[in-house]
Amino acid sequence: MALPRVLSVIGAGQMGIGIALVASLRAKIPTVLLYDRDPSQITKGLEFMDKLLAKDVSKGKTNEDDAKAARGRIISITSSSASSSTSNNDEFGWARELGERGSDMAVEAASERLSIKEGIFRTLAKNLSRDAVLASNTSSISITKLAGAAVEGLGSTISKASEEGKSCAGRVVGVHFFNPVPVMKLCEVIPGLQTSEVTLERAKAFAVACGKEVSTSKDVPGFVSNALLMPFLNEAIMCLESGTATRDDIDKTLRLGMGHPMGPLQLGDIFIGLDTCLAIQETLYEGTRDSKYRPSVLLGRMVDAGWLGKKSGKGFYEY
Ligand SMILES: NC(=O)c1ccc[n+]([C@@H]2O[C@H](COP(=O)([O-])OP(=O)(O)OC[C@H]3O[C@@H](n4cnc5c(N)ncnc54)[C@H](O)[C@@H]3O)[C@@H](O)[C@H]2O)c1
Repeated sequence: MALPRVLSVIGAGQMGIGIALVASLRAKIPTVLLYDRDPSQITKGLEFMDKLLAKDVSKGKTNEDDAKAARGRIISITSSSASSSTSNNDEFGWARELGERGSDMAVEAASERLSIKEGIFRTLAKNLSRDAVLASNTSSISITKLAGAAVEGLGSTISKASEEGKSCAGRVVGVHFFNPVPVMKLCEVIPGLQTSEVTLERAKAFAVACGKEVSTSKDVPGFVSNALLMPFLNEAIMCLESGTATRDDIDKTLRLGMGHPMGPLQLGDIFIGLDTCLAIQETLYEGTRDSKYRPSVLLGRMVDAGWLGKKSGKGFYEY
């Protein structure tokens, strides 16, 4: 199955940077375009990527030439770089640039909010070629819904049931990588109701080329991974909230008693981010209307306070 020649990664947070890195270093995709609406995220993310590559080289996992070549294949796209060929306040100039550079696959890794992702899928469908794979790294949001948004991006004259609408929705798929992307071995691939077989196979081939094992899940809220993991984290936060145990004892119990590599509060803080945890839990709750998924009140308050975990300097722990 053919791999993309020009991959676009939308969102340069912890996941987008990791996906761009494995796509370039492992899958050797010839061009990886990296866009974020906040240019400082790209700068910060690429600095982090340089450190990861340098560490790989010093440990002998990658040689210097491969690391240099991988970094050289990654091109940053910002709204201002894209607007050089368009007007300065053209909010979709970045997407047009991805299209003009021939992007034949996009992986969206922006913040876990439906409205943000729907906006991106509308814009990508409008600006990328009509055979590009449009993938999302979402942790919980419906791929079927994102495929619907992609069709809307083609304009009001194209209905979802038309041949053009079905063909566009058929190119949308979930590729759920895990954090840290270069380390975690799995990619969960999720077909929406409309995803075509070809798209599914292209997504799997991409994940395998990035060095991942693939599992498949149906398009249910949270897919397999987060339908299992997130209620566990939410329960841990509820234990803290109700005073069942202290932060340290909750994490210690799971680490030493169950052999987990880290406690659930550390996992939420360091690797997932509490805003993402809350967004996923809300998707589970709203998507199933089952009270067992009610997000912890404390989790909501922590996000209100901007205590998102390591990425904001404070969560259950201080950084
Ligand atoms: N952190 C994890 O453990 C993990 C694991 C698997 C999947 N995910 C999923 O990956 C996605 C990204 O998560 P993350 O942890 O990298 O978040 P993050 O907060 O580190 O990064 C999100 C990035 O998206 C950017 N962004 C927001 N709106 C945008 C837009 N409209 N256009 C372009 N960029 C935009 C932000 O500026 C930010 O840089 C989410 O859907 C999340 O659920 C996260």
